[in-house]
Amino acid sequence: MNSHKQLFILSCLSLVLVLLSGQFGLQVEAGHHIHHRSKKLFVFGDSYVDTGNTNKSKPGSWKEPYGITSPGKPTGRFSDGRVLTDFIAKYLRLRTPITHRLWDYTVPKHSLKYGMNFAYGGTGVFDTSSSGPNMTAQIDIFNQLVQENVYTLSDITNSIAYVSVAGNDYNYYLATNGSLPGFPSFIASVVNQTTINLIHLQSLGFKRIVVGALQPLGCLPQATAQTSFQSCNSTFNDLVTLHNNLLNRSVTKLNQEINDHNTFTILDIFDGFRTVLNNPSSHNIKERLKPCCFGVSSEYNCGSVDENNVKKYLVCENPESTFFWDELHPTQAGWNAVYNELEKRGLYKILY
Ligand SMILES: *[C@@H]1O[C@H](CO)[C@@H](O)[C@H](O)[C@H]1NC(C)=O
Ligand SMILES: *[C@@H]1O[C@H](CO)[C@@H](O)[C@H](O)[C@H]1NC(C)=O
Ligand SMILES: *[C@@H]1O[C@H](CO)[C@@H](O)[C@H](O)[C@H]1NC(C)=O
Ligand SMILES: *[C@@H]1O[C@H](CO)[C@@H](O)[C@H](O)[C@H]1NC(C)=O
Ligand SMILES: *[C@@H]1O[C@H](CO)[C@@H](O)[C@H](O)[C@H]1NC(C)=O
Ligand SMILES: *[C@@H]1O[C@H](CO)[C@@H](O)[C@H](O)[C@H]1NC(C)=O
Repeated sequence: MNSHKQLFILSCLSLVLVLLSGQFGLQVEAGHHIHHRSKKLFVFGDSYVDTGNTNKSKPGSWKEPYGITSPGKPTGRFSDGRVLTDFIAKYLRLRTPITHRLWDYTVPKHSLKYGMNFAYGGTGVFDTSSSGPNMTAQIDIFNQLVQENVYTLSDITNSIAYVSVAGNDYNYYLATNGSLPGFPSFIASVVNQTTINLIHLQSLGFKRIVVGALQPLGCLPQATAQTSFQSCNSTFNDLVTLHNNLLNRSVTKLNQEINDHNTFTILDIFDGFRTVLNNPSSHNIKERLKPCCFGVSSEYNCGSVDENNVKKYLVCENPESTFFWDELHPTQAGWNAVYNELEKRGLYKILY
């Protein structure tokens, strides 16, 4: 065989190899699991995962000082920097998926390859005071894109759906009905509706559906302000525990019904918050419950300004050592600490 022929055969072989690896998807080792190149992340829910869907004219998220830590200006995230979605995407070795707000038919195909985020700040499984789409409506928007072949069934079966919801349902309940005795039955209906939404996602083809456990609402600055940010409100946290137990029961039942224990999983945000808040110094968090950014009077929020553009809020010196950013949301450092805790106890069992 002359060297030209050898070279030709070698080239053909490598071409075949390239074609084969393209066909079956390059596999990349990550943690304990193999990720397919085609894996995408689709995100549904509220401000804990919104990376810029909320209307720019709304207060917060698109206003200074949101985003001051990273990237240095507001991006529509309800934090000083990265939020849960960014950490989940990083774990999956994906870029943060594009927000639905940025999508139209002119968006280049490669911008869609990490998935899409449908989450809106302020939304719940039921309608809230937010004008954003509720969970059902967000899933319908996604389904519409599937009908239009923006995403295919094989995109979906290889992907992860992440659902962050219910905190706003309870805030809205408190703001409207407010009755503590009525709370347990309202929790049951929130979990019921969440379950209906999870089943809907599965019926659209998702084989990995991850729902976040509800964060300890009683530890959020809006609840701890009445104790000058000294202690969590255990009444609220007990209600959250009820929510999370019902969710666990419901998800366990769903998996049993379809005889696959891996389809629906719960990311235990509650435990992540609890562990970090019980031992903040191990994560270099010095300010535990007091938020970094807050209104100078109780009627103002982080990001609000008066008619002369004078700030009506104060920002702390060190967001990187403060757990909470505003009255509801962690800082980037807070999310990072929660993420590290969750990773320690085995994210590979939940997100894959
Ligand atoms: C954003 O809010 C403004 C003012 O409320 C409204 O006019 C506009 O239609 C909204 N944009 C979107 C995309 O919802
Ligand atoms: C969600 O929003 C849609 C559209 O606005 C509405 O028709 C539906 O009743 C809402 N669903 C729930 C469960 O509140
Ligand atoms: C709010 O209270 C009213 C009257 O007590 C009740 O009919 C309604 O179902 C409650 N709403 C929720 C969401 O629990
Ligand atoms: C939730 O769903 C279960 C079974 O699907 C039903 O028995 C129960 O009454 C529902 N609860 C509420 C509060 O809607
Ligand atoms: C928790 O919040 C509820 C409702 O605002 C309030 O009635 C209760 O006193 C608070 N409990 C504690 C321990 O702060
Ligand atoms: C429900 O809780 C039990 C006990 O903590 C846990 O072992 C199980 O993994 C949970 N189920 C889901 C679906 O998260």
